[in-house]
Amino acid sequence: MPIKNRFAEMHDEITGWRRHLHAHPELLYDVHETAGFVQERLGEFGVDEITPGIGRTGVVAVIKGKTDTRGRVIGLRADMDALPITEASGVDYASTVPGKMHACGHDGHTSILLGAAKYLSETRNFDGTVVLLFQPAEEGGAGGKAMVDDGVMDRWNIQEVYGLHNMPGLPVGQIAARPGPLLASSDEFEIVVTGKGGHAAAPHNAIDTTLVASQIVVSLHTIVSRNVDPIKRVVLTVGTFNTDSNASNVIAHTARLEGTVRTLDPDMRALAEERVRRVAEDTASAFGARAEVKWMPGYPVTVNTEDETAHAIDAARAVTPDVDPETPPIMPSEDFAYMLEARPGAYVFLGNGDTAMCHHPAYVFDDEAIPLGCSWFAELVERRMPAA
Ligand code: NI
Repeated sequence: MPIKNRFAEMHDEITGWRRHLHAHPELLYDVHETAGFVQERLGEFGVDEITPGIGRTGVVAVIKGKTDTRGRVIGLRADMDALPITEASGVDYASTVPGKMHACGHDGHTSILLGAAKYLSETRNFDGTVVLLFQPAEEGGAGGKAMVDDGVMDRWNIQEVYGLHNMPGLPVGQIAARPGPLLASSDEFEIVVTGKGGHAAAPHNAIDTTLVASQIVVSLHTIVSRNVDPIKRVVLTVGTFNTDSNASNVIAHTARLEGTVRTLDPDMRALAEERVRRVAEDTASAFGARAEVKWMPGYPVTVNTEDETAHAIDAARAVTPDVDPETPPIMPSEDFAYMLEARPGAYVFLGNGDTAMCHHPAYVFDDEAIPLGCSWFAELVERRMPAA
């Protein structure tokens, strides 16, 4: 079965919205123009309710079906923010804002959800309520968490949530998902090691902080190989290593390490934190130095629930022949994870073809994917809440 015909008719209009948003990217919570654009369109469609300012600058809208006999409520989410990247895509609707670019396709996600909203407002061919969640600050600002913390799930009585993300490398026309973990958690750590600086020719009078920090880096890499269950997936990377020595004949007094831990297993986050602290502090102590560890929890693992993933896959199969129901998980992170912690639901990938990867200055969202994304949202609503 193909995409819904209405979205083929609306394709140019939705592409126009997408390219307008693309030319005017905004960062994190500062998405006032984008949120304003979303509210204007929603107002034109005649949705039942629009509430701005949820999760600071998020927009929540409600579309009621023809009937509501069972009190069903489904949440559909899109992200609105761009990235601090200078665009090098060469498209004629490129960013007009220096240093900002929609390099993750959130302009596409927002436009797709607007397209679905227009269709659902016109047809209302379902029994229940759709709640649209346009969130700010997906790119590191935890805007999804801000909306959940603002009570969005309880206030609108949302029972299950769905979202999508374009995916370079998957063919346009494909929808891919899997039950269980789909994207990794992302935590960061900083370790400041303090030894005793001194003359390079008199190491016996110093505590060589560079050597201590080096031992810590090596030992940190035993966490994944020796502490983590080999069946589970954890990545630990030390990304920076800086000392306060600027000369070859000076022993450093302090060193600073920064790193990240990614995992698909929620229980491994606690283990990694405990081990990073222990290894850093005790290794430093063994050399007479001191290590202070700062742990900065980031986005949780994005975990699709079984039943809702099955519904997402069924809806995908109804609108495209190209569905991968067992796509491998990947190690980037996604703050839809917070919504999936609050409610059952599913996140799917929408093929974006052979383009540069997300977050690359040459990345281009493929507008040909729009009708499929819209059709999937609409089909999902009509299947999960069939008209009475
Ligand atoms: Ni993204």
